[in-house]
Amino acid sequence: MGNKTQGSSSKCLFFFFSGSLSLNLLLLYLSFGRQSDRLTWTRTAALEAEAVASLSCSGHGRAFLDGIGFGSSQGEPACECYGCYGGSDCSELLPDCPADADSGDPLFLEPFWMQRAESSAVMVSGWHRMSYQITKGTMLSIELEKHIRKLHSVIGNANETGKFILFGVGSTQLLNAAVHALSYKTLSPAYVVATAPYYGAYETQTKLFNSEDYEWAGDTFQWKNTSDSSLNFVEFVTSPNNPDGLPRHPVIQGPFAKAIHDHAYYWPHFTAIPSMVDEEIMLFTLSKITGHAGTRFGWALIKDEEVYNRMLKYTATNTIGFSHESQLRALKLLKVVLQRGGRDMFQFGYTTLSDRWRKLSTSLSLSKRFSLQKIAPQYCNFFQRIREPSPGYAWLKCEMEEDEDCERVLSGAGIIGRAANVIPRARMILRAKLQFSVASL
Ligand SMILES: Cc1ncc(COP(=O)(O)O)c(C=O)c1O
Repeated sequence: MGNKTQGSSSKCLFFFFSGSLSLNLLLLYLSFGRQSDRLTWTRTAALEAEAVASLSCSGHGRAFLDGIGFGSSQGEPACECYGCYGGSDCSELLPDCPADADSGDPLFLEPFWMQRAESSAVMVSGWHRMSYQITKGTMLSIELEKHIRKLHSVIGNANETGKFILFGVGSTQLLNAAVHALSYKTLSPAYVVATAPYYGAYETQTKLFNSEDYEWAGDTFQWKNTSDSSLNFVEFVTSPNNPDGLPRHPVIQGPFAKAIHDHAYYWPHFTAIPSMVDEEIMLFTLSKITGHAGTRFGWALIKDEEVYNRMLKYTATNTIGFSHESQLRALKLLKVVLQRGGRDMFQFGYTTLSDRWRKLSTSLSLSKRFSLQKIAPQYCNFFQRIREPSPGYAWLKCEMEEDEDCERVLSGAGIIGRAANVIPRARMILRAKLQFSVASL
């Protein structure tokens, strides 16, 4: 009798506990399970984004949310084909199409981002940061600034400690902001110079803005031995350099010589990182780090507060701050870059570029007609080993006397490059995208 009562009460207990467990599981499921079923205002945007991303465009193009026709009456996303491909799905190879190696689009990182579709996507609400200002009355995202500082310290390429950070619409906006800050109220107009071959925007911008505070004065070569020590100089120093990928240091010395250090390519996928740089003004750009040139986001690390304030005033006057959508996207991308200490993206970029470089230089090593810049393997603190060269651009030279106009020689072979700003013009800049095609010369 006693055993019977014991048996039925343990059965009751069993049913009670299993019933309450199932109820809890059901409640848990309803609260946290199938989150995607509970999407509200993001659902349509997510479905649109997935529909566009699902188009393969035959591997020779991409479809975008803001592509022509999409969302309109036709409602179908359309492929935008890469150069030399056409047709609605980009499957047609266009005949007699020249290989365009003039563009500096860093699309070699696109496959990396496609592999991280989920972690790199950003959803922007219709009311996202509509104000001119961001946090605490500033125009800069404090969270993004924190991640930029972390990036520099993880990669070990630039000392951010104690520096002011200023954002820019690409680093392009910051080039002239820095010239303005360094030439402000100098006794005579500053001479803006760079060592050839140099990135063309230094010259075109300085000439276009045509200020009474500064003027374009050409190649440092003409000035390095000047005996007039009262001249003011602002020198653009690009390291590693665009286009030849070599390290650079200021050429002009003297009491009134100032430098703007453009480190657009000082990242481990383009070059070895032998040391941490620590200069007065250092410029960086998302375009070359993650490949998102269209986001138009760059930054400067600045030592001197007065220089920082001048540059800040320049950008505030020029564009009243920086796109909040760009800052949001930059933050998301840098978070992905920082996963696993930056190894994944920089390793991917390095492997891609060094592989292209090896193929190109191996084929051109057999040629007497063309040569490339020489870059030696170098120890990299980031990868902690000696790494092979992986420059963003090929700096090609036509060696034959009769090929003095290198641009013409290449265009005759169906290749569009960019003529160099050096005399004689036997040098050409070929952008990274082309490197396979040149190999067939
Ligand atoms: C040396 C150098 N600096 C600056 C830039 C400008 O980059 P962005 O305006 O995209 O940030 C470039 C772009 O090609 C560059 O090569």
